[in-house]
Amino acid sequence: MISEKDFIYTENTAFLNKGSFKWSAPSNIALVKYWGKKEHQIPANPSISFTLNQCKTITKLTFKKKQDTVTFSFDLLFEGKPKEDFHPKIQKFFERIELYCPYLKDYHFTIDTQNTFPHSSGIASSASGMAALAMNIMSLEKELNPKISDEFFCQKASFLARLGSGSACRSVKGSVVIWGNHPETPNSSNLFGVEFSSEVHPNFKNYQDTILLVDKGEKQVSSTVGHDLMHNHPFAEQRFSQAHRNLSAIKSVLKNGNIDEFIIIVESEALTLHAMMMTSMPYFILMKPNTLEIINAIWKFRRETKIPVCFTLDAGANVHVLYPENVRVTTLQFIKDELVGYCQNGQYICDEIGLGSKLLLEK
Ligand code: DP6
Repeated sequence: MISEKDFIYTENTAFLNKGSFKWSAPSNIALVKYWGKKEHQIPANPSISFTLNQCKTITKLTFKKKQDTVTFSFDLLFEGKPKEDFHPKIQKFFERIELYCPYLKDYHFTIDTQNTFPHSSGIASSASGMAALAMNIMSLEKELNPKISDEFFCQKASFLARLGSGSACRSVKGSVVIWGNHPETPNSSNLFGVEFSSEVHPNFKNYQDTILLVDKGEKQVSSTVGHDLMHNHPFAEQRFSQAHRNLSAIKSVLKNGNIDEFIIIVESEALTLHAMMMTSMPYFILMKPNTLEIINAIWKFRRETKIPVCFTLDAGANVHVLYPENVRVTTLQFIKDELVGYCQNGQYICDEIGLGSKLLLEK
């Protein structure tokens, strides 16, 4: 069993002068949700997600050897322009991963990042952003130590991404990723995400996710604060056991292709996530009136047409509309006719299941 110690880098460090890499990493949408964590970004329950294809962060990391090895040194660019607001987050990330990547203090970095989804769309970029940065850091580590295997590369990238943002560890690989110890999933780990190892039923091939942008404003309560409110939460233990059961159930569904069962699990998970927020102390609501309008419209459409469209939510007001590829045209028409009116400025993003992070450029 791989442990945290295996991720500590012990080889030579400062012998490279300069270089650069560029990686893209996608966002992901959880089907069984991670909500609640222990120290060091260890999840309170296991989760499973679809990796997305279109919503991505593209990050170029340029490194140059520096004289002092005492501090972290980096410049941040967002869409080519300096973006100092991200500084504290990246500083904290580097501090958290320093033990595992001691070479970070040997170099000055320029981290140049952009998202494929619209700026301030309310789509969290922390998963894709942290995953893209972690992949770049692992490319540097591989330059320093070419012996590492592809498997180790991805495991450690996911491990590092997790320390930036929990859900980011599910953005290294595609197309279905499990994160967190789950006794019924033998290779599962609290330390990094693993690919769902069984064959996914053709019903879920190219599964569609249309993201309806209901509210693009800043959230009143961040995910990090929300996770924390699961400590001493009156329903926490039941919720964590339920997530274990739902993960077992959805694994069977992904193999047997039962979309009706899929819908029940996924929608229940989304509503349970928000129920946890509403029953925290202090309590809060991230859904907006239009989130509920959309949910009701999806239920009506499904009842009337028998087309298996369902929804899920992340920690915000936006709605992810999930449906099989073979009902794409009709569903998109329904979205345009009946749901777009509930979106802020009519904005939505068409996405589907994807394959994970990609190396775009080396050196
Ligand atoms: C509701 O990964 O954003 O999207 O680990 O504090 O960065 P931190 O939280 P984050 O939490 C995501 C929560 C969720 C569910 C999920 O993606 O599983």
